[in-house]
Amino acid sequence: MKLFLDTAVVEEIREIASWGVLSGITTNPSLLAKAGRSVPDFMREIDSLVKGPLSLEVTAESSEEMLKEARKLRGYGENVVIKLPLTPEGLKTCGQLKEEGISSNLTLVFSANQALLAAAAGADYVSPFIGRLNDNGADGNGLIREIRTIFDRYGIAAKIIAASIRDPRNVTEAALNGADIATIPYAVMKKMIAHPLTVDGLRKFKEDWENSRLSL
Ligand code: G3P
Repeated sequence: MKLFLDTAVVEEIREIASWGVLSGITTNPSLLAKAGRSVPDFMREIDSLVKGPLSLEVTAESSEEMLKEARKLRGYGENVVIKLPLTPEGLKTCGQLKEEGISSNLTLVFSANQALLAAAAGADYVSPFIGRLNDNGADGNGLIREIRTIFDRYGIAAKIIAASIRDPRNVTEAALNGADIATIPYAVMKKMIAHPLTVDGLRKFKEDWENSRLSL
């Protein structure tokens, strides 16, 4: 399973990209608003940092306006994937973008049927929101499992992005249930690397080595 960072904060992208673990980035209008970044400003700053796909989301409601926004967003880079909402207008736009050779990521997916519709419309990525489902008493990772089973059974190539990740366990479960990608907030990425036994083990190695007075 590939790891994407779900953020619009340039410093977070810089730090996690330096670990060499990032395969892509996703953003949404809320994340950009929170970071106080306009899209051109954001894209200019992360130019050389992101190698893989980078999702930017449209905000329009009609397909006509979504298409205009999508073409503009795609103008910021060849690796830009257009995030579209799972609405009739979003599906329509997805098909049109496919014809133009522009990749799309259908977002706000909360059911297997929505994922099927996204794939049928030509989506390259579908983004089930596991955290928001769990928040509402549903089973986010059960949804990943259902979509995986259906996509495998019918040879559907669209990639499943586990989104709305809230904690490190969500990432493990997304991987176990067959997501192709997990898009992970910075704070969760930092928790994924941390383990008290790693810290303790490192301290002990250092202490033993220093006490030995040997050299490398
Ligand atoms: O990738 C979608 C994600 O940003 C939504 O996360 O935490 O707002 O549900 P959240």
